[in-house]
Amino acid sequence: MSEIEVVRDVAALAERAANLFLTAAQEAVFSRGTFSVALAGGSTPLRMYDLLAGDPYTLAIEWSKVHLFWGDERCVPPTHADSNYLQTAAHLISRLDIPMKNIHRIQGELPPIQAAAEYQAELQHYFGANPVFDLVLLGLGPDGHTASLFPGTQALEEKEKWVAAVPHSTPPPPLVDRVSLTLPVLNASRQVLFLVAGAEKADVVARIFKSPSGEPLLPAQRVCPNPGRLTRLLDVAAMGKLDRM
Ligand code: 6PG
Repeated sequence: MSEIEVVRDVAALAERAANLFLTAAQEAVFSRGTFSVALAGGSTPLRMYDLLAGDPYTLAIEWSKVHLFWGDERCVPPTHADSNYLQTAAHLISRLDIPMKNIHRIQGELPPIQAAAEYQAELQHYFGANPVFDLVLLGLGPDGHTASLFPGTQALEEKEKWVAAVPHSTPPPPLVDRVSLTLPVLNASRQVLFLVAGAEKADVVARIFKSPSGEPLLPAQRVCPNPGRLTRLLDVAAMGKLDRM
């Protein structure tokens, strides 16, 4: 099942995304006793993380039953400004009462191939044979990438591994190697929630929604969870190049 929701602006997007996170968390904890979520990097989700770190979310979510993972990470130390972990720690984790054992960080300080192998082992330890996240948060880059699955890369075509090391030396920045979940894992999740805001995304959003026939699919277009649910949450500015839906 696939849904598109358009909201007024970045503030409304953060509020809606936090509410969807809460619903997914409550459903997962009620049904399975835990909630596994892969967080998105980049800047778009940060306002949502700030909301989740405050009322009513701190009390409405049983954080002791929430397991935080990442969809991708830059190969930098967790203290580096480009670290997705650092940003999440500042906006969310540092303000939550959540056990450290529930934080499943990608070790960006390691060489990419080793970091990917360590993260895959962490996923196998948690999920067993089949990694099925309750929720995966994803952003959208201006080139159509998502997580660290960039157009034309080997990682995008990975069919077996759950985690890939991604050499990355071309725009968009930061031009550092990455570690990323692969499409098989993203598409196995119970729900994927794309968060897309701002006029700078209007061109790529228009390309995705108009999807000229014969054009190769962009990485974000290849995220099609099945039987999981795909929700694409965008603000009006990101929809700016589409006259009507
Ligand atoms: C990363 C992200 C990446 C991000 C998009 C959108 O590590 O950079 O995983 O996929 O979500 O590039 O980034 P913004 O939200 O900053 O526009």
